[in-house]
Amino acid sequence: ENELEVSHILQTWYKTNKRMLPWRESSDPYIIWISEIILQQTRVVQGMDYFLRFTGRFPDVASLASAEEDEVLKYWQGLGYYSRARNLHAAAKEIMEKFGGVFPEKHKDILSLKGIGDYTAAAIVSFVWNKPYPVVDGNVFRVLARLFAMDVPIDTTQGKKQFTELAGIVMDPKQAGQHNQAIMEFGALQCVPQNPDCEVCPLKERCMAYASGTVQDLPVKQNK
Ligand code: ADE
Repeated sequence: ENELEVSHILQTWYKTNKRMLPWRESSDPYIIWISEIILQQTRVVQGMDYFLRFTGRFPDVASLASAEEDEVLKYWQGLGYYSRARNLHAAAKEIMEKFGGVFPEKHKDILSLKGIGDYTAAAIVSFVWNKPYPVVDGNVFRVLARLFAMDVPIDTTQGKKQFTELAGIVMDPKQAGQHNQAIMEFGALQCVPQNPDCEVCPLKERCMAYASGTVQDLPVKQNK
């Protein structure tokens, strides 16, 4: 239950500190999917405009699947990493053909879609259906590395395995969706890469890096 306490603190922090973001108002897997793909390599502030325009023109799987690829790419213009847009388009067609146009709910089916990896699949099933899959992105790496003073490099197979395990242990499985959003937002706003304000951190009494003065040294990257 020590692990659940961390999740509880994160969720309480989240309720009062979370940003109001358009995709947070949605429980539509299509909307969550689009937002997470945009946000993979794009900052929230920049991604917001793209998200609103993209989902305005392509509000659901069917409209995306039936569009011309050129038009999909036009709505992606400026975001870069155009394979993301091509994969979105291809996956929308897959959903039409293999899943009758209904966004699949099974983790394994979602993971089979083009362009969807562990992170995106976990985000969709936890945010939308509250399924207990931990999300592990850069923010989560940093929060966990500091909280548990983990000095295994995050950009190694071994590191990814250990952090994914830890992310699953820390997560409250009954509130997977809110926990996952909370730990990512906590990394984005409180446990920031440079000069975090640890004095106001609700986890400072439990943070092993804070205790040992190693906050600025974590997480460790092998290829730096
Ligand atoms: N970065 C990645 N996913 C995000 C989300 N759902 N909200 C805010 N920032 C994010």
